[in-house]
Amino acid sequence: MAARTLDGKVAVIAGGGKNLGALVARQFVEAGARGIALHYNSDASRAETERTAAALKAMGADATLFQGDLSVVANNAALFDQAKAHFGQVDIAVNTVGVVIKKPIADVSEADFDRSSDANAKAAFFFLQQAGRTLADGGSIVTIVSSLLAAYTPYYAVYPGSKAAVEHYTRAASKEFGDRGISVNAIGPGPMDTPFFYGQETPEAVQYHSTAAALSGWSKKGLTDIEDIAPIVRFLVTDGWWITGQTIFANGGYTTR
Ligand SMILES: NC(=O)c1ccc[n+]([C@@H]2O[C@H](COP(=O)([O-])OP(=O)(O)OC[C@H]3O[C@@H](n4cnc5c(N)ncnc54)[C@H](OP(=O)(O)O)[C@@H]3O)[C@@H](O)[C@H]2O)c1
Repeated sequence: MAARTLDGKVAVIAGGGKNLGALVARQFVEAGARGIALHYNSDASRAETERTAAALKAMGADATLFQGDLSVVANNAALFDQAKAHFGQVDIAVNTVGVVIKKPIADVSEADFDRSSDANAKAAFFFLQQAGRTLADGGSIVTIVSSLLAAYTPYYAVYPGSKAAVEHYTRAASKEFGDRGISVNAIGPGPMDTPFFYGQETPEAVQYHSTAAALSGWSKKGLTDIEDIAPIVRFLVTDGWWITGQTIFANGGYTTR
């Protein structure tokens, strides 16, 4: 089995400007990546994405910015085309895009369902498709799903429901892209200490989540941290590339199956 490193590699990171995506970007550059194409979605994410790009450049890498709603199929092609035109090649693709909705099934609107399905499932599929078309042989793809895929819980129907599709897309893509040496995996973090998590949780629910994992007592807030997940992404695209077609739950023992 040949060794794989990030030396001189180029990565496209969807949602790469902030939170988990930004830490993945920094760790890729620390490990030797020469170029990162940072995608961001809303205008509100632009300033933070610009700061991340500046930090990557200060570390010696090159970084580009691309804004777009990735549930629009053409935006995935444009994201990868721009990265390939700028850097000459793309080796790695990481998708951290997600939208969370926590509601009783009775209260889920058609708009809620479509928003969840578009950002979590449709965007992930067409990001994978475009990564498959663009990546150099011997590359890797990682998508972030959720530990809720292994939970038995109310109110989280549409969010993990739409992330569940990504598990299958991951398996199918790993099989189809395998003859080109491309590994494809999904990571399911536990409740993670970013603004994404707190938006829909009551204080009581936060209290529950922060004690629910087997290892909660060993974590700062009892939750998953982005620092727990980014090294796993880095591992999957380097030494861990032999792992493919899998969903890895990284959650301190919050859910398991
Ligand atoms: N935090 C948690 O508790 C937790 C737990 C398990 C799994 N996850 C997953 O981890 C990933 C990263 O989450 P995070 O905590 O680091 O929060 P985050 O930074 O808010 O990540 C979500 C990203 O998705 C982007 N996005 C939303 N809709 C989009 C669309 N239609 N097209 C393109 N981009 C879109 C957001 O951009 P804008 O903000 O600009 O819209 C944001 O950059 C997500 O996939 C999430 O589902 C999070």
